[in-house]
This record gives sequence, C-alpha cells and structure tokens, in this order.
Amino acid sequence: MNESIKLMMAHSSVRRFKDESIPDEDLQKILEAAGAASSWKNFQSYSIIVVRSEEKKRALCELTPQPAIIQADTILLFVGDHNRASKAAELHSATFDAKGTENLLISSVDAALAGQNAMLAAESLGYGGVFIGMIRHSALAVAEIFNLPDYTYPVFCIALGVPNQNFPVKPRLALDTFVFQEEYKEQTVDTIEAHDAIQTEYAGARQTELWSERLVNQFKETEQPETKAVLEKNKLL
Ligand SMILES: Cc1cc2nc3c(=O)[nH]c(=O)nc-3n(C[C@H](O)[C@H](O)[C@H](O)COP(=O)(O)O)c2cc1C
Repeated sequence: MNESIKLMMAHSSVRRFKDESIPDEDLQKILEAAGAASSWKNFQSYSIIVVRSEEKKRALCELTPQPAIIQADTILLFVGDHNRASKAAELHSATFDAKGTENLLISSVDAALAGQNAMLAAESLGYGGVFIGMIRHSALAVAEIFNLPDYTYPVFCIALGVPNQNFPVKPRLALDTFVFQEEYKEQTVDTIEAHDAIQTEYAGARQTELWSERLVNQFKETEQPETKAVLEKNKLL
C-alpha cells in the first residue's frame, strides 16, 4: 500500500476537537486541494464558505445541534453553485435556465468531490473532520445566514479541527456486495443481515440500533421539505 491509499483507508470521522486552530497556511492548502478535484466540464459548480467566527458557528449549531460544529476550528460550507453560470449567460446575453435534476447532480457531485479532497488533504496534515449533511434540514435558514443567492444551495459542511478523539476505522460493506463484475447483481436480505452483524460487532455497547434500522428510518418517511424549498426559492427546481 502506498501512502495515499493508507491515508484513505485510515479515514474515520472526527466529531470532537481540541481547542487549537488550523494555521492559515494549512487551511489554504486544504482549500487548494478541494479546488483541484475533477468537476463537470471544469465548471466547478460549487463554492466553499469558510466559517471561522464564533457567531456564525453558533448560528449554524443552533440550526443543526451537533457538537462538532461548535467545537470545530473551521467549518467549510459547500454550496452547489450555478450562480457563476448565470453571470456567463449575462456576459453572452444568453437565456439562462438552471432548473432541473441533471443540473443538481452536476453541482452536488462537484461539491462532493471537492469536499472529499478537502477531507483527505486535512487528514494528510494531521487534522480530522466530519461531513455534516444534516444542515440541509434547515436549508432555508442556512441559505439566509450565509447569504446564498439565486442558483445556489447548501449541500453539506465539513467541520475541521485538531482531533480530540480517535475511533477505529468503521467497517465497510464487503467488496462483493457493492462491486460487481460486468453487470449489476441485486443483493438479498442476507447481505443486509451479514452487514448488521459486522456493524454490531464494531459498535459493541455503543450501538443503539442496527445498521439496517438506520437505513429503514431514513427511507420510511417522505423526505424533509427544506432542501426542495431552498431549491425552489433559488430557482433550481
Ligand atoms: C454527505 C455526508 C453527510 C454526513 N452528515 C453527517 C451529519 O450530519 N452528522 C454526522 O455526525 N455525520 C455525518 N456524516 C458522517 C457519516 O456518518 C460517516 O462518514 C459514516 O458514518 C462513516 O463513518 P466514517 O466517516 O467514520 O468512516 C456524513 C457523511 C457524509 C458523506
């Protein structure tokens, strides 16, 4: 294994941080690494808002009460962004319609690739972090706090800092349950049960529900309304 793959395989989300800051030059490297990710047609259809003020972190934490947000030295808010494309349309006096699921996939995938680059860069420098997608449950308020204009929406944030916890790497699905040769291979409930057992063994006494129960909870109800609302408000749906 080379150093890059070792780093990827050692990933574990960090949700508790020391009261130490990330020097500006390290943050700069993390952001440059984020920007180096591949993107659809090299559009970079995302923006990153760097949040370091206590005021903004507190406001975000009130909406999404997760300790990682308040403890983190830095929050990177990843925004799906077709606003710059609207300026290109203005430049060329072209019509502009950013509505639609394909455009949402373009910006969400671009943001995710940049986010993963940022996470790996941060980990390579000795920091830790966690993606926080739950901010989308308050997407309208998040958009307001961070002044998100038309054609933009919050995708996730990453809370970053100096780790104050060190959990072992979480088990993943067995390779043959998500990597298929030449064609899709639908799985049975046996796959789910087998992975429940693996997750249960990992979590031990900390486990409150089965891995499959978390999945069930995610999909048993209609989706939360805020993401759609912000997309409609900002002219993306
Ligand atoms: C898009 C995305 C959103 C996430 N949102 C949250 C979140 O809101 N809160 C949280 O504690 N973890 C969140 N996570 C972290 C996952 O729970 C975590 O990556 C997963 O359990 C695997 O654990 P690991 O990263 O430690 O390997 C998110 C991860 C991703 C990729």
